[in-house]
Amino acid sequence: MAPSSSTLSTPGTLGTLGTLEITYAEGPVVVGAGLAGLLAATALSPFPVTVISPAPLGVDTSTGWAQGGIAAAVGPDDDPALHAEDTLRAGAGLCDPEVVRSVTDAGPEAISWLLALGARLDRGPDGALALGLEGAHCRRRVLHAAGDGSGAELLRVAVAAARRTPSVTVVEGVRAVRVLTDAHGVAGVLAEGAGPRRVVATRSVILATGGLGGLYAHTTNPLASRGQGLALAVRAGAVVRDVELVQFHPTALDVGLDPMPLVSEAVRGEGATLVTASGAPAVTDPLAARDVVAHALWAARQAGHATCLDARATLGPRFGDHFPAIESACRAAGLDPSVDLLPVRPAAHYAMGGVLVDAAGRTTVPGLWAVGECASTGLHGANRLASNSLLEATVCSRRLAATLRD
Ligand code: SIN
Repeated sequence: MAPSSSTLSTPGTLGTLGTLEITYAEGPVVVGAGLAGLLAATALSPFPVTVISPAPLGVDTSTGWAQGGIAAAVGPDDDPALHAEDTLRAGAGLCDPEVVRSVTDAGPEAISWLLALGARLDRGPDGALALGLEGAHCRRRVLHAAGDGSGAELLRVAVAAARRTPSVTVVEGVRAVRVLTDAHGVAGVLAEGAGPRRVVATRSVILATGGLGGLYAHTTNPLASRGQGLALAVRAGAVVRDVELVQFHPTALDVGLDPMPLVSEAVRGEGATLVTASGAPAVTDPLAARDVVAHALWAARQAGHATCLDARATLGPRFGDHFPAIESACRAAGLDPSVDLLPVRPAAHYAMGGVLVDAAGRTTVPGLWAVGECASTGLHGANRLASNSLLEATVCSRRLAATLRD
């Protein structure tokens, strides 16, 4: 796991753990290997960093499941100030305006960085980046890859970047059980994998564990996403914020699977509507903010109506060209989106709250950092604007790394 290891009695507060093998990490330890964790590790180069991941890289991370894409004001009719306004409006009064402005301002540059790392984002016939529309965005500004394979592409890029960066050591099959502290702050991580538990001694731990949607009965998240970062942070004494703010995505495919396949908001961005089984409109504006649409569908269901997505007239036989992964999930369930109504319902999708961090990703415990879905930066407020999470992961991981390097 790190350059040297020995068996010692654990010092200081670590002593309460008895005799454990101690491994000395040469730099920070990143807990989690989704987009945020891997980009933070890569951006820390040339400083050594160890990434621990319970699953093999690329598995069980919600990054890989993201469909819609990454929002950034790169279109000729767009401006980061408009992106900031949309983010603030969707966040319903609970965003931190300064954080919103700084992350949306950094959007175009974040896209350039991802392209430089090798991201293959979709482009139009003229070669310009293709821009999709999602709920509560006033402009087309959602960049995507392979139609609905955006997260998978960004994860591919992040995994490849981490693998080819010599200063990044990746240890798979290991999970963090506890963040250890002493009088100075973080002292290490208690980790387990195959073999006995061990202490990884380090003065910097970066939590990048993702969200908690896997705790819910209806979820679009990997079932392994169960709030591990929150638990580690709370036990280490860190302040958490807004943990009750969980976003429900309105259109999870309701075909009896757990987790539920997502039907991206981008499908509504291409004109699909939300209807009841009898064909009556289920919401006034299918592209309203996500919480508004989810509440409307929930109310319709409470009133006894089935809720469905109708892409027949607008996308019809072109559905699979735009959304190949969603089409294959539908077909696996015996549905053809060009001729069938798709049964959908709200499902837990994203944790807006999390471990309280400052603009650089510092938590309230010295040496403990957090980034990505497990962190609460203040960007999302009470309702995350669609496709702002991959942006936040990209921008904030880089900032965190720059601060930690200095
Ligand atoms: C979607 O594609 O609808 C999800 C995008 C997101 O959650 O940001």
